[in-house]
Amino acid sequence: MDRPEIFLPAARQAALEAGRYLLKGLSQTKRVTYKGQVDLVTGFDRRSEEIIYDRLSRAFPGHSFLAEEEIKRDRDSDYRWLVDPLDGTTNFAHGLPVFCVSIALAFRNELILGVVYDPNREELFTATRGHGAYLNGKPISVSKTRKLDRSLLATGFPYDVRTSRDNNLDHFANFAVRAQAIRRLGSAALDLCYVACGRFDGYWEKKLKPWDLAAGALLVEEAGGRVSDLAGKKFRLPGPHIVASNGYIHRPMLEILSLGCVK
Ligand code: IPD
Ligand code: CA
Ligand code: CA
Repeated sequence: MDRPEIFLPAARQAALEAGRYLLKGLSQTKRVTYKGQVDLVTGFDRRSEEIIYDRLSRAFPGHSFLAEEEIKRDRDSDYRWLVDPLDGTTNFAHGLPVFCVSIALAFRNELILGVVYDPNREELFTATRGHGAYLNGKPISVSKTRKLDRSLLATGFPYDVRTSRDNNLDHFANFAVRAQAIRRLGSAALDLCYVACGRFDGYWEKKLKPWDLAAGALLVEEAGGRVSDLAGKKFRLPGPHIVASNGYIHRPMLEILSLGCVK
């Protein structure tokens, strides 16, 4: 395997370019189409994906590429890019400035690079396996909060929230009466980055896709946190369930998650 850092400049450039494009679109009227009852997409998601694909495929033509909207290229390669061109589409479509671009690279399905760019706050989160996590070039680490009742948590709800009983509302209720507070930002990648830099102490969510999770999961690990599935096993692609924390509150979080009432 090549050193993961060699892939960083192209990934960073792609994220910045796509993020700046999205920011310009924030105040414009968007044509929204629905992928499901609540799952929407705009032309900006698709164009952002093209920007990222153009840049990465020019730099690494032999790599595989999996993005949320349309572009999927299976090549005979150990390297695969996982791209969410706009994480937080619902926020974006409503003009709420909480969204980002998320780009990860896996080698034989193990995460080796993660880049998340929030153009609204001009925050660029980067991590490469074994070399720590950074926000705008400065090292970041997870929080030191040791108790769940002092913890600020984040979560999200799946797109089948209206039709499935396994919609996370049970876990949300269980945490709401035990944690200091819970936030629902609407961007899984930013939720994970905020765990990585200590703004959140923990985060959990179910039924996510690999492009939602990949970059942020590596960021949390490289920032000294813990990332697992709901049973506490080390997080592996493709997910889809995730618990990420500063490590101290991980076990209490898993205990609360085991109380879930959906059968
Ligand atoms: C969504 C966001 C949201 C999460 C959803 C995701 P999208 O991604 O990450 O926070 O709760 O499950 O699908 O659709 O905005 O890319
Ligand atoms: Ca997403
Ligand atoms: Ca998306």
